[in-house]
Amino acid sequence: METTLAIIKPDAYKDGNSGKIIDRIISEGFTIKEMKQIHMTKENAEGFYEVHRDRPFYDELTNFMSSGNCVVLSLGRDNAVSKWREVIGATNPEEAAEGTIRALYGKNTGNNAVHGSDSAENGMIESNYFF
Ligand code: CMP
Repeated sequence: METTLAIIKPDAYKDGNSGKIIDRIISEGFTIKEMKQIHMTKENAEGFYEVHRDRPFYDELTNFMSSGNCVVLSLGRDNAVSKWREVIGATNPEEAAEGTIRALYGKNTGNNAVHGSDSAENGMIESNYFF
């Protein structure tokens, strides 16, 4: 079983969409290995997104991710990384396929409702970051 890290971001949390997203996670066949509600500090968010430190959106991204509560989940499933990325859709909600979580609940590239790991290796690294 592969592991991926999912985050329900502050926009989706504030909009009251956490329950719907967790239902979707379960109905798509993922096992919730770990789950907790957190409010990241700016430093937590900077550490998590360290790989993006040199990107122009790093400050905006880490301010947003530390702006309110999130739900972080470590998910297990066959092909968990690619399946979760399929379920959440493209980074920009306007480009996300119909019915994906970002198409349903995201607002823009920054406020895009959820995070998903981009490789099995990062799925483990990111899960270990929070759990
Ligand atoms: P996420 O899957 O959490 O991984 C990195 C995040 O950076 C991504 O989702 C987006 O929310 C964010 N991101 C990527 N590009 C931009 C951008 N141009 N402006 C703001 N945020 C961005």
